[in-house]
Amino acid sequence: MRLAIVGATGAVGHELLSVLERSTLHFDELLLYASPRSAGSTLSFQDRKITVQVTPEGAIDADVILASAGGSVSKALAPVWAANGAVVIDNSSAFRMDERVPLVIPEINPQAALTHQGIIANPNCTTAIAAVALWPLHQAFGIRRAIFSTYQATSGAGAKGMDELLSGTKDFLEGRKVTPSTFAHPIPFNLIPHIDAFQDNGYTKEEMKVVWETRKIFGAPELRISCTAVRIPTLRAHSEAITLELERPATPDEARELLRQAPGVEVVDDPNARRYPMPLTSSGKYDVEVGRLRASLVFDGGLDLFVSGDQLLKGAALNAVQIAEELQRQGALGARVF
Ligand code: A2P
Repeated sequence: MRLAIVGATGAVGHELLSVLERSTLHFDELLLYASPRSAGSTLSFQDRKITVQVTPEGAIDADVILASAGGSVSKALAPVWAANGAVVIDNSSAFRMDERVPLVIPEINPQAALTHQGIIANPNCTTAIAAVALWPLHQAFGIRRAIFSTYQATSGAGAKGMDELLSGTKDFLEGRKVTPSTFAHPIPFNLIPHIDAFQDNGYTKEEMKVVWETRKIFGAPELRISCTAVRIPTLRAHSEAITLELERPATPDEARELLRQAPGVEVVDDPNARRYPMPLTSSGKYDVEVGRLRASLVFDGGLDLFVSGDQLLKGAALNAVQIAEELQRQGALGARVF
């Protein structure tokens, strides 16, 4: 089994390597690719150093390719890799809404992964973090409408986004002008209600990804969702305040109990002890923290909650590796069709 990472030197690539070190996924060879900028550099994996290669224009001789080098690379090359027999698990948004491409969160729709035709899409990070917490509630109580407000870390813009927060903060504190490049405005000591491009309906593409992708993953095209997505000056965990209208009324206690049993979720909900989800505590964790569960003051029988999850882990690298693990568990890896 040959496993390749495309975009191995990026923020998600870095996490892919560390998740793979702890994963049960069996593979014989690991190939690392990035842009020509990184060619010849080495990355550590277990006790080895692996040389990063330039991503070729054409096929890659691997059984599984974890792609995290951005939408344009995936759009151009994932179909070529898939045509050559690889299973591509793509972290970009290029194929997520393609009807032929399953969009998979293993805690929610693992069986969808088996229907792939060469490409499997990894969901948007904000969508994935909320979805693991909302799915058990949706199954038990039926979500009718959901309103999201997000607090998204700079890691969502990759390593350069995190660098811009760190170097911008230093500039700010040392009295220099902060010049944004990745973000539309200075991010230190600010927040920016603008992630991805504005759409004709006034929402951003990031906000619409939450709408479109949650419906697809849940198999619930009628689900009503609205989202305001905001970039904040944190490094790597996204948080989300979510209000739910439910088909069947739920109490916070019932919801908490259900979520305690749910895979991929950690209930952190003891406000009197100052315990609730936060980026500082959810960073580096595999599980998504869920807390601040309370009865909605707007929707009778509905709920308000707060989630925080590591954008680079469940929001990207961890979910991608879990998809590969699921395929291997189902015996659906390693049988290339050349
Ligand atoms: P490189 O580090 O050589 O630029 P991030 O999301 O953190 O910005 O990381 C993006 C990843 O995608 C990096 O590994 C980057 O490599 C890689 N990458 C960017 N552009 C290309 C490209 N045109 N071909 C292959 N890899 C690319």
